[in-house]
Amino acid sequence: MKRALRMSYLVAGVAGIGFFVMSVLLLGVWPGRVLEQQIRGMSPDHPLRLTASEQRGRTIYAREGCAYCHTQQVRYVPNDVARFGAASLAWETIFDYPHLWGTRRIGPDLSREGAVRSADWQLSHLYSPRGLVADSVMPAFPWLFDGAPDRPRQEAQDLLAYLETLGRNRALAGPEGEARARAACNCSDDEKQLAFGSPALNASPSIARGQGGYPKLSESGDPNRGQQLYSSNCAGCHGLRGEGDGPGAAGLHPRPANLSEHDYTLDRLGSSLWNGSAGTAMPAWRDLPIEDLSALAQVVRGFHQAQPEPALPQDVLDLGSRVYAAHCAQCHGENGAGDGSAAGQFPIAPTNFRAQRPSLAASLRALRNGVEGTPMAPWTSQLSEAELSAAAYFVRGFFQGGN
Ligand code: HEC
Ligand code: HEC
Ligand code: HEC
Repeated sequence: MKRALRMSYLVAGVAGIGFFVMSVLLLGVWPGRVLEQQIRGMSPDHPLRLTASEQRGRTIYAREGCAYCHTQQVRYVPNDVARFGAASLAWETIFDYPHLWGTRRIGPDLSREGAVRSADWQLSHLYSPRGLVADSVMPAFPWLFDGAPDRPRQEAQDLLAYLETLGRNRALAGPEGEARARAACNCSDDEKQLAFGSPALNASPSIARGQGGYPKLSESGDPNRGQQLYSSNCAGCHGLRGEGDGPGAAGLHPRPANLSEHDYTLDRLGSSLWNGSAGTAMPAWRDLPIEDLSALAQVVRGFHQAQPEPALPQDVLDLGSRVYAAHCAQCHGENGAGDGSAAGQFPIAPTNFRAQRPSLAASLRALRNGVEGTPMAPWTSQLSEAELSAAAYFVRGFFQGGN
């Protein structure tokens, strides 16, 4: 009897310790090793480490509590993949310590934020999110600035540098990296599909810019809906009357376009809205349905009041044509289509005058002052007054009417 009792203590003791050891091995050590193997198999050999500035930016990101509202983890679910791109792999954050994956998504996921927005957009947004996104609940971080969105302190620059690194390693791993990760992935077909099946690593519209054309907008659109969309999405930058003077405009270079001073073809508006404007803060609006984009296009066109056009004598036109061929065609293209031989060199495309016509005043202003924040320089030191106004007039003649 006594002996049996002693045995049961022993059995219980051994079993207790045994189960404890087993659970540590099964739940702690084993998954850790699988993950480690997976990371080793999938990750590129030399992922980039953060520079000193990017590292400081990361510390500021943690300090300001950005991770309370933003995740850095695209989950294995179709909606995430559709919105943000391929699901996150474990190796992407191997150097993150402590990690900043976040658990709540009050704002969008940021794991692929690098290169999605222009620097002036990011800084203006940090300075005052509601200037650019009317209904944003993101707090402003003005203490990272010297009183204006285009006067960032070191801290804002570091934070921006860090935001630009998000998604960088995965993008740098390239197609070879994706193939290698796919081969090493010890996962189900469904997971594989979500992790590697989507054609886009980064599904942001500005990254996909220009791929596969843009939709054709229709001439009709609900004006009330258009107005409402315009005031909540566009007025912050372009201003309530489309004059390019919204509260968010001050820190942007180039400034938001003055819509009231332009005629646009419907095609031009389709491509602007669908793709945004490369190299500027103008976002792509692909999450809006085509009817909404058409309604917006009507609002944009409504800002412009047609002015009586002065008819200029032929010799002025000839002068304009000569000036244009000598100084402007290399960027704006022989036929004004914005496709001159030098056009490809610039992050911001030269204006396509066939698709948009600035008012005479706006055209002259662009020639006199240049377009700040773009490669369009002032021409006052190179052209006479007569040449300036002739060229300003001449470029308006390329416009291809109202479609
Ligand atoms: C209270 C929650 C909250 C906090 C804290 C917060 N954000 Fe946001 N953030 C949002 C929301 C909501 C949006 C979406 C609306 C908008 O664009 O302003 C957003 C949008 C963004 C975007 C735009 C993403 C895109 O491309 O559309 C970036 C970048 C961003 N936040 C960075 C930050 C950084 C950096 C911090 C910390 C300094 C931060 N956020 C803190 C809520 C927050
Ligand atoms: C974050 C600020 C911002 C927001 C929001 C914004 N835009 Fe823009 N938009 C710009 C900037 C900057 C440009 C580029 C100006 C340039 O290229 O000189 C631009 C360019 C354009 C153009 C091209 C015209 C041209 O002359 O270059 C159109 C059309 C346009 N925006 C319409 C809209 C509409 C409609 C909305 C709302 C759905 C909108 N924008 C929202 C900043 C913004
Ligand atoms: C180095 C290339 C380059 C050259 C050369 C150049 N431009 Fe431009 N031009 C641009 C760019 C880039 C823009 C700005 C596009 C934007 O704001 O999105 C621009 C804008 C303009 C605009 C304003 C368009 C608008 O819709 O508001 C006018 C007008 C213009 N250019 C006329 C000329 C004329 C006339 C010449 C020759 C005297 C000339 N440009 C030479 C690149 C160039």
